[in-house]
Amino acid sequence: MRKKLIAGNWKMHGTLASVSALSHVLLQSVSSTGDTSLVVFPTSIHLQSVSEILKDSPIAFGAQNFYPEDSGAFTGEISAPMIHELGCRYVLVGHSERRQLFGESDNLIAKKFLAAQTAGLTPILCVGETREERETEQTEQIIRDQLAFVLAEVGLAAFENCVIAYEPVWAIGTGLTATPDQAQAVHLFIRHWLSRHNERIAQKVQILYGGSVKSVNAGSLFAMPDIDGALVGGASLLAEEFLAICKAAG
Ligand code: PGA
Repeated sequence: MRKKLIAGNWKMHGTLASVSALSHVLLQSVSSTGDTSLVVFPTSIHLQSVSEILKDSPIAFGAQNFYPEDSGAFTGEISAPMIHELGCRYVLVGHSERRQLFGESDNLIAKKFLAAQTAGLTPILCVGETREERETEQTEQIIRDQLAFVLAEVGLAAFENCVIAYEPVWAIGTGLTATPDQAQAVHLFIRHWLSRHNERIAQKVQILYGGSVKSVNAGSLFAMPDIDGALVGGASLLAEEFLAICKAAG
């Protein structure tokens, strides 16, 4: 039985005061989240403060972004070993905002996936189709291509220690959530794709759904057999909402 994982992607939001306050509220409520794992992704500049609040707690924290070299002349970047040194366990890789707004290629995403694992971090690999791709029935092909590119670069064994997040681009930040059936169909497709390579890994990998997850729709999504949690954006900035989503997973 796969454990549920609820991830909060805080994106470029918050002040030092607001993210500290949010971390403290989550910390105080953590006993009520049961068997569900939690991880939050503050901005890089807030990560140090959040790590001091959440270290030694059941709430994990991670980084939204990094550059896949250990160190060097890469002005403005941070590395996976630096993130790991802060106590982070997870990093996001391949989020559609990074793909679309910052031009991240499949090649860079595969490099980041590998660099994360080499540093001892678990990558949450995000995949998903645009509205146009869904409307032209290319969803499965897009997801397969995004996964296959990473697989070809990193090898099957690397999928042993990763999380996959299915995030339809048309559902991110739009208030349009995939229906539980739509999401389940893609999650099952991903698990079948994995099982063609290795059944054990396919059964082990947690597949999260992301895209306008809120407390009102979380329960019906989590009731689906292949939805192992959520990657939550907007609703993760509101402690009560985020905790209600975590509760729905428990
Ligand atoms: P959203 O974002 O929950 O605000 O749609 C999800 C994400 O980008 O991971």
